[in-house]
Amino acid sequence: MSEKPDPMTVPFGTVFCDWMATAPSEDGEYRYAGKVEPYGDFSMSPAAHALHYGSTIFEGLKAHTQVDGSLAIFRLDDHVGRMRQSAAQLRLPVPDEALLRQMIIDSVEANVSEVPPPPGSLYIRPTLIGTEPNIGAAATPSSEALLYIVNCPVGDYFKGGVRPLTLLLEEQIPRTTPQFGMVKSGANYAMALAPTLDAMARNEAVDQILFATGGDITETGAANFFLADDDRLVTRQLDQSFLHGVTRASVLTLAADLGYEVEERPIELDELEDWASRGEAFLSGTAAVLSPVGTMLRGNAEITFGDGQPGVNTLRLRESLVAIQNGSGGDPHGWRTTVRS
Ligand code: PLP
Ligand code: COI
Repeated sequence: MSEKPDPMTVPFGTVFCDWMATAPSEDGEYRYAGKVEPYGDFSMSPAAHALHYGSTIFEGLKAHTQVDGSLAIFRLDDHVGRMRQSAAQLRLPVPDEALLRQMIIDSVEANVSEVPPPPGSLYIRPTLIGTEPNIGAAATPSSEALLYIVNCPVGDYFKGGVRPLTLLLEEQIPRTTPQFGMVKSGANYAMALAPTLDAMARNEAVDQILFATGGDITETGAANFFLADDDRLVTRQLDQSFLHGVTRASVLTLAADLGYEVEERPIELDELEDWASRGEAFLSGTAAVLSPVGTMLRGNAEITFGDGQPGVNTLRLRESLVAIQNGSGGDPHGWRTTVRS
């Protein structure tokens, strides 16, 4: 293995494993050789659909070293399902479920020696791009596509580990168009970039923008949003306007298992102060795991949750999630896929 930086100390997603799985499409079917290949550049036409018309989708999931030394992928089938949904939405050839699953497993098994010990993990990035060389295809789908899986050894997504984040409420600019929010496509991240950078430039303390367009609190640029207290957990009800996080679904299930009352409903901006005075807020995501929110900035107002430190319910839910991910707890919902290690 080549000399690489320590994934725990460099920014998330900047170190890549030695092996990748690739499958170009042919007549709408993906052709996978059945084995991984060395990680490296590939060539494509300068006229490729993805480069001009944004036909790109991706997934993000993780494999975790288990307490018994084995390795397991967290909620593989849910991520496969969401990727197929995203592909359909961009009218890219939809990869066969079994094929996508196998390519992910093959990539993880090939890179097993690069999985960092907990709290590190292996971040898996399945990617699908439209490759048809046709710059006239602005309003037609790409007939050709490339599916590939790359992996990164990773530590924390947010610098500084589990620490209270500062969120800025963005009440005007939407993250993306309402019907596209649930698609995990590069376009959504491109649209959120400028408003996020502009807001961060105005206030250095801001970690993330929480999109609350017209008062509708949905999600940040890379995670879903929750409110919690000792009895209840609240998050925005699902629709097409934001990403249906797999971690979000996991947290809802675990909270119900732990006896919390779970509410999926609109969150009013005006209820934030009340929650802050007696409750907690946190973000959820594959990269973010469960990240406590200490402060929210709304215009000139600063809303501090509790004493601004990670809340007990947030940490309790985080622990129960991590216990399933790393095998220190049982797997009552069948979320772990053990791979050869
Ligand atoms: N929302 C956005 C915009 C994201 O990029 C992510 C990360 O994948 C999430 C939410 C959380 O989704 P998941 O829990 O499936 O990782
Ligand atoms: C993930 O959590 O998997 C994401 O896709 C977030 C990403 C922007 C790093």
